[in-house]
Amino acid sequence: AGIPTPDYICISIQHPDPDPQKVKDLGFPLVVKPVCAGSSVGMSIVPNEKELPAAIEKGFQNDDTLILEQYIKGTELTCGVLGNQEIEALPVIEIIPGEGHEFFDYHAKYVAGATDEICPARIDEQTTQKVHQLAVEAHRTLCLKGYSRTDMLLKDDQLYVLETNTIPGMTATSLFPQSAAKAGYEFGVLMDKLIELAIEENKRTNLRRAQ
Ligand SMILES: Nc1ncnc2c1ncn2[C@@H]1O[C@H](COP(=O)(O)OP(=O)(O)O)[C@@H](O)[C@H]1O
Ligand SMILES: [Mg+2]
Repeated sequence: AGIPTPDYICISIQHPDPDPQKVKDLGFPLVVKPVCAGSSVGMSIVPNEKELPAAIEKGFQNDDTLILEQYIKGTELTCGVLGNQEIEALPVIEIIPGEGHEFFDYHAKYVAGATDEICPARIDEQTTQKVHQLAVEAHRTLCLKGYSRTDMLLKDDQLYVLETNTIPGMTATSLFPQSAAKAGYEFGVLMDKLIELAIEENKRTNLRRAQ
């Protein structure tokens, strides 16, 4: 879909050994992650070839397919979108994992205060526009409805999409509600909005089925 991502290869439990040349092309450090898990579970940042087999084994404990991905050392950004036909991009959040966190790992995600979250992100207007555009494009490409949140990395003015969260965390302190509040949707208003969007989409789909 023309959405920029880090370079990657996939391996499966049936063919678990990655092509050495392709691993070389990705370079080290590289990121090993289960395709279907979330919350950084089963994921490793692998510093060298020697530690790759252990990381692959850990990954396969969580999923039958793994992504081996080029490591991008950049600024971590995430952007929520809201809407059905017309999609609104919410203010971009910058994520800074705290001391002792090599990346936005499970602990950094779920322990209060383990991560700094800055909204709106400290990026220029042009980059903000690009982030918004990519978050909307990723949402549309994946045929999502109502809302989603896309994680990205920014390095040397280049954006890399990591993933789109189809059911982003929705506690009052989660990233999506934080950013929605900045756009004027306080938590209760956001819940009403999500329900309205779901009903609207359901009506539209039922109408189409009836035709
Ligand atoms: N290619 C990468 N380069 C650098 N860091 C990465 C990369 N992929 C993931 N990370 C780090 O790992 C975290 C989790 O990865 P992500 O792809 O968002 O999966 P999930 O959040 O579903 O576990 C990211 O927020 C980021 O901190
Ligand atoms: Mg993520």
